[in-house]
Amino acid sequence: MHFLVEAPYNKKMLYIGVDLGTSAVKLLLMDEKGKIQKIVSREYPLFFPHPGWSEQNPEDWFLGSVEGMKELTAQCDKSRIAGISFGGQMHGLVALDCADRVIRPAILWNDGRTGAETEYLNEVIGKEKLSQCTANIAFAGFTAPKLLWMKKHEPDNFAKIRKIMLPKDFLAYRLSGTFCTDMSDASGMLLMDVKNRCWSEEMLAVCSITKEQLPKLYESYEPVGTLKPEIAKELGFPLNVKVIAGAGDNAAAAVGTGTVGEGRCNISLGTSGTIFISSREFGVDENNALHSFAHADGNYHLMGCMLSAASCNKWWSEEILKTKDYGGEQAKITRLGENNVFYLPYLMGERSPHNHPEARAMFIGMSMNTTREDMTQAVLEGVAFGLRDSLEVAKKLGIQIERTKICGGGAKSLLWRKMIANIMNLKVDVIESEEGPALGGAMLAAVGCGEYPDVETIAKKLVKVVDTIEPEEELAAKYEEKYQRFQKIYPAVKELF
Ligand code: XUL
Repeated sequence: MHFLVEAPYNKKMLYIGVDLGTSAVKLLLMDEKGKIQKIVSREYPLFFPHPGWSEQNPEDWFLGSVEGMKELTAQCDKSRIAGISFGGQMHGLVALDCADRVIRPAILWNDGRTGAETEYLNEVIGKEKLSQCTANIAFAGFTAPKLLWMKKHEPDNFAKIRKIMLPKDFLAYRLSGTFCTDMSDASGMLLMDVKNRCWSEEMLAVCSITKEQLPKLYESYEPVGTLKPEIAKELGFPLNVKVIAGAGDNAAAAVGTGTVGEGRCNISLGTSGTIFISSREFGVDENNALHSFAHADGNYHLMGCMLSAASCNKWWSEEILKTKDYGGEQAKITRLGENNVFYLPYLMGERSPHNHPEARAMFIGMSMNTTREDMTQAVLEGVAFGLRDSLEVAKKLGIQIERTKICGGGAKSLLWRKMIANIMNLKVDVIESEEGPALGGAMLAAVGCGEYPDVETIAKKLVKVVDTIEPEEELAAKYEEKYQRFQKIYPAVKELF
């Protein structure tokens, strides 16, 4: 039998961070001092119904999260649980009908079906107008072009839409009953006026939707409600556990790595690869190659996003080499800076900085001497070169970056970290627990519950740098020469795609 209890206020509280990723949901339990008590994850399927399309079932996210939360809290004193928050894969379109049923599978951030709609937005509505209204231009993965795609290709489904939300907001809705989103994630919909942190009436009109169909906007650290009683009962949690808005996964990861306030940088090597630069001031890249989004600390950030980062290595190892022994493959790589093979990492097309959904991956430069190790090395280097492309855009805007944090599954590889440091010529600060979005989510929950006054304070108190990888002069120079060659390849081949 379950007894629903109110969380007592004199206890040491626990916070849950939910990282709703593309391959799995990762859940993290953190105590009030920031100590990670436990991490669990649940995988779910990803569907590619056509080349370049990418979909998931929101119900899988919810079931995985609830089951994961049960495992996460199985051994803890559940009456200590105070708050839950999220870092979620961004841009995905989740549409619900009048009975709150999911209308169709979610169309994800790395889905490239909206080439025509993206072009319409950028060329007919015009980049200038989009940038004025939202601080961004259209990219295939963003939510607004997906709405236009649905309107054209699935008009019956489009007509049924009552609620439009992002992936993590589906979890918040199902857990709390509040139809909400947060500023950082909403920034990636191309429906929000990022500078003024509100919906853009003009963009709503362009997409033939109304404000009633959109969630209420919260700051990432704001509570949106408490658990629904039936959910609290199922989980055995107190009734007054707060649900906090949360953030897009990159903004949440930035919180988790202490990339908040002014001028800090974080690189994430997950399914996607991102370079994230925090800023107290609102700013726009005049060519809109970098996204200009709201941050989870209440400020802003610029971000470059490549669609396939650690997923390139996963594809190469598991699908082609047929091995999961990532460590073993990488251990044979000994000649950094000497590789003559290049790899373009565009397995799902590319977002930053090329904005080209039809681009595809390629190897170039093999000879009869080329080895398996050279190919693996080229994949890892190609991802780092792709991130360097976005760093170059930031540098052209006059942003000086000397050091970065790093997180995501790929960041566990010492070799890849070293490549990043030398290819990007940045000092890479390794933090004690690079749990990125899950930790960021738990930290946002702690702020939302009043355990810490604000996001900058909790980041300062909890995030600890334990090592720094410095670029090596000779190796960085070799990689500089390689990068100069790498960046000529895409312009030379782009007409092929
Ligand atoms: C960011 C982006 C990706 C996803 C991955 O713009 O599309 O990083 O958020 O989950």
